[in-house]
Amino acid sequence: MSIRSRFPIFEKKTYLNSCSYGALSIEVRDAYNRYLDDWNDNGSDWDRWVGFYESARAAFAGLINANPEEVAVTFCASDGVNAIASALDYSGPRKKIVVSDFEFPTVAQIWHAQERRGAEVCHVPECDGRIPLELYEHAIDEQTLIVSIASVCYWNGSKQDVRAIVDLAHSRGALVMVDAYQGLGAFPIDVRALDADFLVGGTLKYLLSSAGTAMLYVRSQLIERLMPTCSGWFAQRDINAMDIHANNPAPSARRFESGTPPVANIYAALAGVGLIQSWGLETIETHVAELTRALKDRIREEGFKLATPPEDDAHGAMIAVKVRDERAIVEHLARDGIVTSSRHGNLRISPHIYNNLDDIERLFESIARSRQYMA
Ligand SMILES: Cc1ncc(COP(=O)(O)O)c(C=O)c1O
Repeated sequence: MSIRSRFPIFEKKTYLNSCSYGALSIEVRDAYNRYLDDWNDNGSDWDRWVGFYESARAAFAGLINANPEEVAVTFCASDGVNAIASALDYSGPRKKIVVSDFEFPTVAQIWHAQERRGAEVCHVPECDGRIPLELYEHAIDEQTLIVSIASVCYWNGSKQDVRAIVDLAHSRGALVMVDAYQGLGAFPIDVRALDADFLVGGTLKYLLSSAGTAMLYVRSQLIERLMPTCSGWFAQRDINAMDIHANNPAPSARRFESGTPPVANIYAALAGVGLIQSWGLETIETHVAELTRALKDRIREEGFKLATPPEDDAHGAMIAVKVRDERAIVEHLARDGIVTSSRHGNLRISPHIYNNLDDIERLFESIARSRQYMA
């Protein structure tokens, strides 16, 4: 069975919106059905479900070259950022949080929420679709507690040089949180190679699962130094302790979790991540790069304006084009059965392993009939 035929949506639509939500595979649908069958057949099956939750932790760790003890299984990326934000101390001389203008709103909003606790948030501006390292050099100083960066920007696809930013931040004594949501599942990500302190991501986009499960990586040396003020029974050293007189956090990254894991979504996450691992991230990256190159060529030929930096290594799987009316173009394409999305005045086109060059041809045939919406 071909990769594409595992995603029945392609029988009806040209799906180019993995930056928003991955397409549903037969395997992920089967996983949800299996959950319902297991629930129906066995009732509460906690031993098995907790086993799956630990398998998800191991699968997430494997994806980013971390140890399972360094990974918290969360409900969404915001949960992971909130847990770390809650554990940091903003009362000392280091109270500055450096946030890039490429952040997804949830991340920046969580850092701003720490202002009540003494944090000072400083934004690194974007400049013509990129953030040069000099701007980080300017922003990160000896008062900086943490630098929060998206590895790939959700509105123009720009890929940041995470390792260079991490090295800079570390040289000034600051921690780094990487939001890898727009990269996970689209290309290899290695927390050791990046030297990141924290990394968040989730399963609903290029990891091909669905909403409800996400992950937080915390560098092992930092775990026991951080005491989150969000907690819960699944964050305890002994989940079954049932002690209402104390909070006794786990020595692993599980201390950044809270309550009952999202069991149904974990079935789906294991199936989605399993597919990604079976194809291999290098294979996915190579395939997607062929499609993004074709997209950029067509955009140039048609005289449209790229919002994404054009160099192959300067963007992720999503290519953004400047448009005059983002709503109108997305609706026009949807009428032709082509699923895309838009942000910040850009049409977002985000191929994955299941797309092919014919999808790109169909997209441009449809755009040709709606040129008035293009910038
Ligand atoms: C870069 C990035 N970070 C985070 C999120 C979502 O975060 P959460 O899982 O908290 O909704 C998204 C998209 O939904 C995203 O594109």
